[in-house]
Amino acid sequence: MTTPLLSVRNLTTEFHLPDGKVARALEDVSFDVLPGQTVGLVGESGCGKTTTLMSVMRLLPASGRITSGRALFQGRDLLQLSEPQMRAVRWKEMAIVFQGAMNALNPVMKVGDQIREAIELHNLMDRDAAEKRVGELLEMVGIQRARRDQYPHQYSGGMRQRAMIAMALACSPDLLFADEPTTALDVMIQAQVLQLLKEIQKELGLAIVMVTHDLGVVAEVCDSVVVMYGGKVAEYGTADAIYNAPQHPYTRRLLASFPDLNRPGDTLASIPGTPPRLTDLPTGCRFHPRCDVKVEACETVSPPMLETEPGHYAACHLCQGREARFS
Ligand SMILES: Nc1ncnc2c1ncn2[C@@H]1O[C@H](COP(=O)(O)OP(=O)(O)O)[C@@H](O)[C@H]1O
Ligand SMILES: [Mg+2]
Repeated sequence: MTTPLLSVRNLTTEFHLPDGKVARALEDVSFDVLPGQTVGLVGESGCGKTTTLMSVMRLLPASGRITSGRALFQGRDLLQLSEPQMRAVRWKEMAIVFQGAMNALNPVMKVGDQIREAIELHNLMDRDAAEKRVGELLEMVGIQRARRDQYPHQYSGGMRQRAMIAMALACSPDLLFADEPTTALDVMIQAQVLQLLKEIQKELGLAIVMVTHDLGVVAEVCDSVVVMYGGKVAEYGTADAIYNAPQHPYTRRLLASFPDLNRPGDTLASIPGTPPRLTDLPTGCRFHPRCDVKVEACETVSPPMLETEPGHYAACHLCQGREARFS
């Protein structure tokens, strides 16, 4: 079996809110990322996708705290590293394209200068070498070098997103987190950005964790899928298994609300009801208030993660399987 590049185990993260309440944003989140593969993190808004990435990158805001779990990356537990040790990993070995990042470019600075600054910040490179790298990165993401000296407003949305991807790749990481990289783009451009990510992945052997609420995106690019609900993993398996044999009622509802997987860009039709408030989680299964197949146990007993088929996991009382053991 291939050794995972990243193994997230039982990751549990909370936010301490100004009113003294605690929001349990993540509980017991586990999944693997294999070298060169793409993992999709999917689920409705607020289910903990961004928090998962920010926890692993150790970029949570001050109110956030990882209370348990591990994030094994190339033999080290990132959650145990000191901040200086983490700084040697962050951006260099693993990088992130933040949610909404394409709108965070500095409007009064040339795009090429912004990319060069990102390179200089992390790399001991002289100006000439950094400038050469800017050219390489622009080329890699399909932006003509001639546009190096343009400002963000002269770029289309898709180009700004490409520029953000170029910045994240500045130090040639092995793992890229992409948080909703296509959400703000129109359908044609979404497809182009996904295609670009696939090409870069192939060229660099990059592993990608792609956050999206768009199951079309997942079908297009992901090898495996983590379906999250209310801060927990509802289901986890290969993209094939998730699409062809979904086990969790929530996954089934997600898929049913998304009729045409060949049209990336369609957004999810809503599932009746709303996700749970993390300061006030329901007892039992977090999905039970919205579940149309629940049984009595669902209201009181939190369902264990079961291995329903080898490598396919679901946390649902209605599923059959052995209790999952992640090594
Ligand atoms: N800085 C924060 N302070 C307090 N709560 C937060 C913070 N960031 C996220 N949360 C809460 O954690 C939950 C998960 O958020 P997030 O990871 O951003 O979800 P997603 O990316 O899936 O939309 C949400 O309920 C959100 O309200
Ligand atoms: Mg998010």
